Amino acid sequence: MSQLKLGVVGLGFIGYLHARIINELPNAKLAAVADTDKDVLEKAKNDFGCDIYDDYQIMLEKADIDAVSICTPDQFHLKPVLAASAAGKHILVEKPIATTLDEALQIKDVIEKDNVRLMVAHLLRFDPRYVRIKEEIAQGGLGEILHLRGKRQNQRTIVERLGGRISMLFYVGVHDIDIVQWYAGSRITRVYAQKVAKFNSAYDSEDCIFFLANFANGSLATFEFSWALPKNFPAGIYASIEAVGTKGAGYVDILEQGARIFREEGIACEYPDTLHWPETNGRIMGDLRDEIEHYADAVLNNKEFLVPTNEVISAIAVIEAVLKSLDTDKAVEVKQV
Ligand SMILES: NC(=O)c1ccc[n+]([C@@H]2O[C@H](COP(=O)([O-])OP(=O)(O)OC[C@H]3O[C@@H](n4cnc5c(N)ncnc54)[C@H](O)[C@@H]3O)[C@@H](O)[C@H]2O)c1
Repeated sequence: MSQLKLGVVGLGFIGYLHARIINELPNAKLAAVADTDKDVLEKAKNDFGCDIYDDYQIMLEKADIDAVSICTPDQFHLKPVLAASAAGKHILVEKPIATTLDEALQIKDVIEKDNVRLMVAHLLRFDPRYVRIKEEIAQGGLGEILHLRGKRQNQRTIVERLGGRISMLFYVGVHDIDIVQWYAGSRITRVYAQKVAKFNSAYDSEDCIFFLANFANGSLATFEFSWALPKNFPAGIYASIEAVGTKGAGYVDILEQGARIFREEGIACEYPDTLHWPETNGRIMGDLRDEIEHYADAVLNNKEFLVPTNEVISAIAVIEAVLKSLDTDKAVEVKQV
C-alpha cells in the first residue's frame, strides 16, 4: 500500500495523538514533526524516530513530506496553513479552520490558487453515532426536520488548561454547530445568545453559552455549551444531539459509552472514552484514527473529502454572529458564505 508522508505542526494534546496515529496507520508515514517546545520534540524523536524541527517553516522547506497536519492552537492556524500551501503541501488542519471568517475565506482562496488539498478535522463527521443519524435523515427516515439541539459540556479543567485563550464556541462548540447544520440540510441565518461568566471569569472565560438559531428552511435549533462540569465528573465530556422531524427523531448521547469503572481509591467512577481516541491493544482507535486514515486515502487516491470546506466555514460565520449577539444582547443575522 502506498503511504502519504506527513509532518505534524503542534504536538500538544491533539497533535501528539495525530502524530501517534499517523505513525500507526498503514497508509501514512510520520516523516517529521514541528513544535516550539524542545522537550516535546525530544519525546517525539524517542517515540517515533521521525525528524524534528523547532520551526515549521524549516520543516516545510527540508522535510520529505507530501502533507502536513496542523494542530496549533485555534487562533494560530492561519500562518502555518498559508506557509504549507505556499510550499505545495496538502493540509489537514484541526477544527476550527480559523477564528475569523476573513481568515477562513483567505485560507479557502489560497489553497485553491496553490492547487493544494485541505480538509478540516471535524471529528464528529467520522463518529458512527453521529453519522448514523445523518444517514437516517438522508434516507428520509425522520421526514422533514423541524427542530434540533446540540449540547456539549466539559469539565472546568479544560479552562484551566487553556487559560482562557479561546472561546468555547471555537474549541468545542464548532463541532455541534457543524453537525446540526449538516443534519438540518440548511444554514443558520439568525442567532440569539446568552452566557454566564461567574466561576470561569477568573480565566477570562465563560461558564456557559446558550443560543437559539433560526435556519433558512424554517427549522429551529438550540445550542448549549458549558465548561462548568466538576473536576470529578466521570467522563471528560458530556455531549448530546437531537433532530426531530415530521416522521421521526434521532438522538445521540455520548455519556454512556459501554464501559464503566468503579474504584475504591482515586477517581471513584469513570466512563472511559471508547469512540473518539481510545487506546486498544496498544493502538489508538476510533473516530480520530478513521478521520486521518480517510484524509490520507483521499489525498493518495484523489477522492473527495468527507468534510466539505464550505460547510465548516459557514460554522465560523455562525460563531461570529453568536459573539456579536453576546456583545449586543440582540438577535444577529448570520453572514451567508
Ligand atoms: N478534534 C478534537 O476533538 C480536538 C480536541 C482537542 C483540540 N482540538 C483542536 O486542536 C488544536 C490544538 O489544540 P490542543 O488542545 O492540542 O492545543 P495544545 O495547547 O495542547 O497544543 C498546541 C501545540 O502547538 C504548539 N505550537 C504553538 N505555536 C506553534 C508554532 N508557531 N509552531 C509550532 N508549534 C506551535 C504548542 O507548543 C503546543 O505543543 C486546536 O485547534 C483545537 O481546537 C481538536
